[in-house]
Amino acid sequence: MDINKLLKLSQKPNLFEKSETDFWDDEHISKKMLEAHLNPDWDAASRKISTINLSVEWLENDIFSDKDIKILDLGCGPGLYDFKLAKRGYSITGIDFSKRSINYAKKSATESNLDIKYIYQDYLTIDFESEFDVIMLIFCDFGALTNDERDILLNKVYRALKPGGIFIFDIFTDRNRDERDLGKSWGISKDGFWNKKPYLSLTETFIYSEDDTFLDQTIVMTEDEDINIYRLFNHYYTKSTITNTLNQFGFKNHAYYSDITGKEYSEESKTLAVVTTK
Ligand SMILES: C[S@@+](CC[C@H](N)C(=O)[O-])C[C@H]1O[C@@H](n2cnc3c(N)ncnc32)[C@H](O)[C@@H]1O
Repeated sequence: MDINKLLKLSQKPNLFEKSETDFWDDEHISKKMLEAHLNPDWDAASRKISTINLSVEWLENDIFSDKDIKILDLGCGPGLYDFKLAKRGYSITGIDFSKRSINYAKKSATESNLDIKYIYQDYLTIDFESEFDVIMLIFCDFGALTNDERDILLNKVYRALKPGGIFIFDIFTDRNRDERDLGKSWGISKDGFWNKKPYLSLTETFIYSEDDTFLDQTIVMTEDEDINIYRLFNHYYTKSTITNTLNQFGFKNHAYYSDITGKEYSEESKTLAVVTTK
């Protein structure tokens, strides 16, 4: 076991320093991820199904203006929201860069006779102009972006929306920081989430207080001493910091909720859902 290598890898990395390993599109991890998306009782890769149902009800009853709107779902995963919305008559385009999730979504839509357009693409490269009434980015993916990536996305979303169109997304708030200690944990697994070979995983949370960001870093070591490192950064926001950000990109009339089911905004909430207008 190369302890010196482990020592080096377990140092706190620079803010948003990427790991070289693929995460969303890794052959094994994406398989486990799809299982997590599809488990109706897990709040893991997607929210559990009871929450998704509440979200769809809320979007339809309180947020969407009428049935005749075009919706773009960024980071759509296997399309759990899209199927429900398409069944209610909305026109949907979903974009994701997990090949496994997009393939699943395409196949399920075809099998259910739903006319949903799915695109395998990095959503930071979209190039639409005044095309959508609604753009959504659900399950706190916004916070995984570096500030530069976030700014690219906000420009592209603004451009892709029709005038008066809305952008809906959720983020983690600073309430997570207070409860996240600088914890370390380990696991040992066979055909587990990170690798199909038996592995040892060492997970640590790092906080970057000045940049309102935390990192969950996992080092995964297999029997043959193959070592991979996975970094999931998350920029958390407050109502005030996200308002300032959105204002810089021309969005207006921001509405805030505690979560993506439309629960009333509370300062205590660990998530914040935002509906903002072009
Ligand atoms: C946490 S999952 C949420 C999936 C879906 N929105 C849901 O709530 O069921 C995040 C999804 O975003 C996708 N994703 C992350 N970054 C992306 C990017 N830059 N471009 C396209 N898809 C991305 C991942 O592949 C994954 O399917």
